[in-house]
Amino acid sequence: MKEQIHFGPWRSLLAEVIEEEDYSSIFYVVDRKVSDLHQLELGEEKAAFINASEASKNLDTVSTLWNSFSAANCDRKSLIVCIGGGFTTDVGGFAAATYMRGVSSIYIPSTVLGMLDASIGGKTGINFRHFKNRIGSFHPSDHIIVDTRFLESLPELQWWSGYAELIKHALIADRDLWNELLKIEQQEDLRSKLDKLLAKGMSIKQHIVKRDYQEEGVRKKLNFGHTFGHALESLSLEKDTEVLHGFAVAVGIWVEARLSLEIGLLSNKEFDQIADYLHKLYPFQNIEEKDISAIMRYMKGDKKNIHSSINFTLLEGIGNAVTDQSPARGTIEISLRSYIDEYKKL
Ligand SMILES: NC(=O)c1ccc[n+]([C@@H]2O[C@H](COP(=O)([O-])OP(=O)(O)OC[C@H]3O[C@@H](n4cnc5c(N)ncnc54)[C@H](O)[C@@H]3O)[C@@H](O)[C@H]2O)c1
Repeated sequence: MKEQIHFGPWRSLLAEVIEEEDYSSIFYVVDRKVSDLHQLELGEEKAAFINASEASKNLDTVSTLWNSFSAANCDRKSLIVCIGGGFTTDVGGFAAATYMRGVSSIYIPSTVLGMLDASIGGKTGINFRHFKNRIGSFHPSDHIIVDTRFLESLPELQWWSGYAELIKHALIADRDLWNELLKIEQQEDLRSKLDKLLAKGMSIKQHIVKRDYQEEGVRKKLNFGHTFGHALESLSLEKDTEVLHGFAVAVGIWVEARLSLEIGLLSNKEFDQIADYLHKLYPFQNIEEKDISAIMRYMKGDKKNIHSSINFTLLEGIGNAVTDQSPARGTIEISLRSYIDEYKKL
C-alpha cells in the first residue's frame, strides 16, 4: 500500500519503514533552508539541497537532481527521500517519478501545506512557461512521515498559507470542520489544535484521492479555489513577484465562492460567512482591472479544462462541492470584479 502516513520523530520512523522495504540505496532531496535550520547533516554525497521558490520549480532543478541521482549511482531500487515543503516534494517527487522510469520515494513534509496537502495524492510536477504545474506525473510516495517539530521554524505566514488548504478541505467536504475552523483566528489557536486538524485534513484528502486517483471524478473537488488561484500564481510568475500558494488559493476560494453565489449554488449568508472569515486571515491581493485579461488567459490554459471552456469546482452549499462547472465568461468576470471592488474599498 502506498502513501502510508506516520506521525512522529522522522529519523526513527524512517529507519523503521526502510527496514521493512528492500531499497538498494537512499538519496535525500532536501530544502536547503530546512536542512540548515534543523541541522540535518545528511552528507553531501547522498543528498541534494535545493532552494525552494516557484521560479526554480522547473526542468533545470529537476535536471540537477537527475545528475545527482546518477552521480550517486542510484538504481531502480533506490529510494528518494524528500524533506521540505510542497516545492521539494513536487520537484523531488517528479525527479523520482522520471528517473529510470520511476523510483520509490518517501516524503517528509516540513510545512503545514506539505503535510495537509502536497505530500498526499501522488501529484508531482513543475511549472512551465509561467503555467503552474503544467508538466508532471502521478507518482505516489511509499510513505509520508509527519514530524511537526519541523513547523517550529516555519514563519507564521507559511502557517496561514497551508491553512488555506484546510479551509478548502472543510468547504468542499466537511461542514462540521468548517464550523470548527471559524473559531481559529490566531496562530496560537491553530497551534493548539494542530495534531487534530492535520489528521482531519489529511484524512479528507486521502479519502478523496483513494476513490479517484487519476482525477476523473470526485478528486476534481480538491480543485476548488485553484482554477483562479493557479492563474494568480501564473500572473505572479510572469510579473516576477511571488505570492504564497495558500494566499493565492485563499483569493481563489473567495472568487470561486462568489462565482458559486452568482450562479445560485451558494446563499448570500454562506458567501458572506466565507468572505468575512477569509478577510480576517488573509490580506486582499491587489489585482487590477488590467490584470483581468491575463487571468482569464491563464484560466483558459488551465490543464483541468476540456475543450475551450474554463472548468471550475464550485460550492453547492458549505461542505459540498460540485465539479465540472463552466459558467459564462461574463459571470466569471463579474466575480473577479467583485473581488477587485472589495480591495478598492479597503
Ligand atoms: N502535489 C500537490 O498535490 C500539491 C498540493 C498543494 C500545493 N502543491 C505545491 O506546493 C508548493 C507550495 O508548497 P509550500 O507552501 O509547502 O512551500 P515551499 O515548499 O515553497 O516552502 C515555502 C518556504 O518555506 C521554507 N520552508 C519549508 N519548510 C520550512 C520550515 N520547516 N521552516 C522554515 N522554513 C521552511 C522554504 O524554504 C520556502 O522558502 C507549490 O508549488 C504548490 O504548487 C502541491
